[in-house]
Amino acid sequence: MGKKVTIIGAGSVGSTIAYTMAVNGIATEVVMIDINESKSLGEALDIRQGVSFCPPISIYAGSYKDAQDSDIVILTSGVARKPGQSRLELAQVNVNITKSIAPEIVKYAPNAVYIIVSNPVDILTYIFNKVSGLPEKQIIGSGTILDTARLRARLAEYYSINQQNVHAYVFGEHGDTSFVPWSIGTISNIAIDRYSECLTDKEAVNPQLVHDEVESYIRKSGGKIIERKGATFYAVAVSVCHICKCIFSGADTALTVSSMMHGEYGIDDVCLSTLSIVGQDGLAGKIVAPLTDEEVGLLHRSADSLRAVIDNLEI
Ligand code: 2OP
Repeated sequence: MGKKVTIIGAGSVGSTIAYTMAVNGIATEVVMIDINESKSLGEALDIRQGVSFCPPISIYAGSYKDAQDSDIVILTSGVARKPGQSRLELAQVNVNITKSIAPEIVKYAPNAVYIIVSNPVDILTYIFNKVSGLPEKQIIGSGTILDTARLRARLAEYYSINQQNVHAYVFGEHGDTSFVPWSIGTISNIAIDRYSECLTDKEAVNPQLVHDEVESYIRKSGGKIIERKGATFYAVAVSVCHICKCIFSGADTALTVSSMMHGEYGIDDVCLSTLSIVGQDGLAGKIVAPLTDEEVGLLHRSADSLRAVIDNLEI
């Protein structure tokens, strides 16, 4: 079976996703589309010239009609976040771009699973749900998969343990109101807060894990990287490729991605990240993990903040 992916937007994020797909053999065909055709041609050519050392893949720049029969479409188009700018400040500009792209691409790829990556990702996932006319299960926002990757990396570093042993998540908005539901986080099946006391070599780790510090590190990571190098693209590209890998694997996988809420935790009509099950047709369901009252309150805070932005948009 072919694995065709269309990437809209050949900026740093879109191009790094295409590159990561090629190097890791995630797709067999990748179409890159950008309003700046010369840029998408250049990026596609640059990647294509290296693929003789990669698993077989056809990668090229094209237009919307080349997206026909795509299994996955990834939206990375939009204006990038500038140093000091919050993701939400970007909202209206990127909402307008998403609205203009949706009918063009859906016409050619009505059966694809769509992954929305542009920021503010939760808002754009919501808008895409409202304007695309596609079933909700076909629409996934990359949401806090990146924040979750950052959290796992941080905890693995902190406890000096393989990231595969860390099961902890970031929920809510991919942004300033994200939070970690510590009550469901584990390392090797042991609650994170009890993990240190289970170690024989207690000296090996700093016993004092400060939740607020870790969460603030996660929330500020994107901004810090943008301050230093102008953009973030490697970690987000790998995270998005992981979503694609899960879709193509056919095995249902629990991921923190953004999706439309329908009363889960008492939240409705907003997109944010909790644990969703991602399978070959897109969203196969959600896991409503048992959270503490405080954590549910934090999820509501995130939902309220996103709702306030949506209410101020011209849709
Ligand atoms: C990030 O967190 C900018 O949202 C992007 O890296």
